[in-house]
Amino acid sequence: MRDLASVAPIAQDFGAVIEAAPGEALADLGREAAALLRLLDTSGAVLLRGFPLNPSWFSGFVDALTARRLTYGGPREKVSDNDEVQLVEPGSGTFGLHCELSATPFRPDLCFFGCERPANRDGETTLADGVRVLAAVSDQTRALFRSRRVKYTWRYDAARWKRMFRIDSAEELHAILDGRPGLTYELRDDGSLSSEFVTDAIVTRSSAPSSPAFANSLMTVAGPRPGQPFHSTFEDGSLIPDEVREEIRAAAAALTVPIAWRPHDVLIIDNWRVLHGRRAFDDPGRRILAMFGDRA
Ligand SMILES: [Fe+2]
Repeated sequence: MRDLASVAPIAQDFGAVIEAAPGEALADLGREAAALLRLLDTSGAVLLRGFPLNPSWFSGFVDALTARRLTYGGPREKVSDNDEVQLVEPGSGTFGLHCELSATPFRPDLCFFGCERPANRDGETTLADGVRVLAAVSDQTRALFRSRRVKYTWRYDAARWKRMFRIDSAEELHAILDGRPGLTYELRDDGSLSSEFVTDAIVTRSSAPSSPAFANSLMTVAGPRPGQPFHSTFEDGSLIPDEVREEIRAAAAALTVPIAWRPHDVLIIDNWRVLHGRRAFDDPGRRILAMFGDRA
């Protein structure tokens, strides 16, 4: 049994770093899933460093920590045959802080990233602890999001929902979506899915106790703009004031912790607490594996 009680933090009072012992494999750590999840509950994010990594070992490790995996439906490169291992979002630009799929009713509990190859420079993954973001914003802003829910409006084309849910028919889609709390949707003639999802911006995990966190997608899903199907507002459709969005962005920026990837690093993130994003880079060889799942 490994001692997970005395590991180093990623940054001051945030996260935990587990360095591999000589000869230690991800599968060895996967056998201590319960202890790892406890560490994640206290630290928000766990970085595994120095463990041998390939997509199959990565996937086996994630399977040990999760009861089910979630496939991302967007245009990400497929890595494993079952599509549960993919590369992260294509492109090389900056990506703002968000919680994965938190604009939908399908937010996974956990995000896993595995570094096959870092960019030759830059391209850090960024993290911000939503518990601290909540504490850092003004009393008025906290009160605003405690009293008012938010609404995300989005549209998925047919290829996207088919990939995400690994289904092929409208009937299967209805079976998945009908009765989801907060979700209203319409399946259009062209097969695309138009949806609105009403939810809290300040969340706690429903499956296990956690502290309230400002953990959402409001920093990446902007207000309504012409021709943009993805946007966010308050529940009643009224605009979230620009100065409020800016205040949140500034608070999160001041708390951002960059992860400078080393080959074979694996990062586990509590997706109900910690926001993630990435910094821009200029290297087509960067390969970061991604998997998402709900806790075992
Ligand atoms: Fe993401």
